[in-house]
Amino acid sequence: MKVAVFSTKSYDREFLSAGNSDGHELHFFEPHLNNETVPLAIGFDAVCAFVNDALDGEILTRLAAGGTRLIALRCAGFNNVDLCAAERQNITVTRVPAYSPHAVAEHAVGMMLTLNRKFHRAFNRIREGNFSLDGLLGFDFFGKTAGLIGTGKIGAVVARILKGFGCEVLAFDPFENAECRELGVRYVSLEELLAASDIITLHCPLTAENRHIVNPASIAKMRDGVMLINTSRGGLIDTLAVIDGLKSGRIGYLGLDVYEEETEMFFEDLSNFIIRDDVFTRLLTFPNVIITGHQAFFTRNALEKISATTLQNISEFERTGRCSNAVRAA
Ligand code: NAI
Repeated sequence: MKVAVFSTKSYDREFLSAGNSDGHELHFFEPHLNNETVPLAIGFDAVCAFVNDALDGEILTRLAAGGTRLIALRCAGFNNVDLCAAERQNITVTRVPAYSPHAVAEHAVGMMLTLNRKFHRAFNRIREGNFSLDGLLGFDFFGKTAGLIGTGKIGAVVARILKGFGCEVLAFDPFENAECRELGVRYVSLEELLAASDIITLHCPLTAENRHIVNPASIAKMRDGVMLINTSRGGLIDTLAVIDGLKSGRIGYLGLDVYEEETEMFFEDLSNFIIRDDVFTRLLTFPNVIITGHQAFFTRNALEKISATTLQNISEFERTGRCSNAVRAA
């Protein structure tokens, strides 16, 4: 198939080209897919898109008019796609449902350890010849209570790792995961999880219902000095409320791999530009906040699996007109 690959980075080109054994005609475009760049896709059967490409009703209508029949997402989340509009336009949307839950789970736990033992500050201090330990005091994870919001594929791996540390693990998820129950994870209400957890980590998809699940009311229910980790989607957190929580000390540690307004910033080298997002730059001023730029998925293993599944999805659709990894409006 003739495929327009948007938001291409060197690693996308490398892994997709290496896995393209079915010989799809891949055209790599660096810009995001948006209202300005959508003409690039005219005449392409398929568009391969990533997390920050816009796939709203208007763009899908324009893609359909240009001949596109397939959106092959090279990610798990599909919150950036208007699935109802895609169905109306007869466009099939596929995704990579699982590539490496370990990549994201290990990153989330890495953020927890960094925030606790302050590796980011220690790294800088030692390079400056400052061997003081003041301000670097951490705590043992052993015996602490961790609360997981979402216990699908990634949440289950996080649960296993934290159980290995000797944490008590609580979870909130409308669907209980048998694997987690076997690990000894205790399912509780969201209220109980918020009130009882020393560490809260988000592993659910972003939906219209759970947008800003972390908000002034939910933060007020959390323990003083709680550690909050978000490797899922930025929209799960009301960032201004979290900044208030950091200022009051209610939130003692914050680790973000995703950010509500990341679209124009993440994955780009903006080191020669002024960051205009004052909310984001405020976050950078806290010593107890670490931010990575949507990097949790970024392992060799994950990229190989993402490319292989994306290309298989395209091949399956080309052969049969459907795909087992298609996503539909609920
Ligand atoms: P999954 O589909 O296996 O599990 C998601 C779980 O969340 C399900 O058990 C579901 O029942 C639960 N859930 C849904 N709504 C909920 C709510 N309101 N409260 C509590 N639980 C809820 O998904 P997976 O693979 O574990 O991924 C989770 C999320 O991680 C993805 O949706 C995506 O947003 C994010 N992600 C982030 C990456 C990164 O690089 N930072 C990479 C891959 C995924």
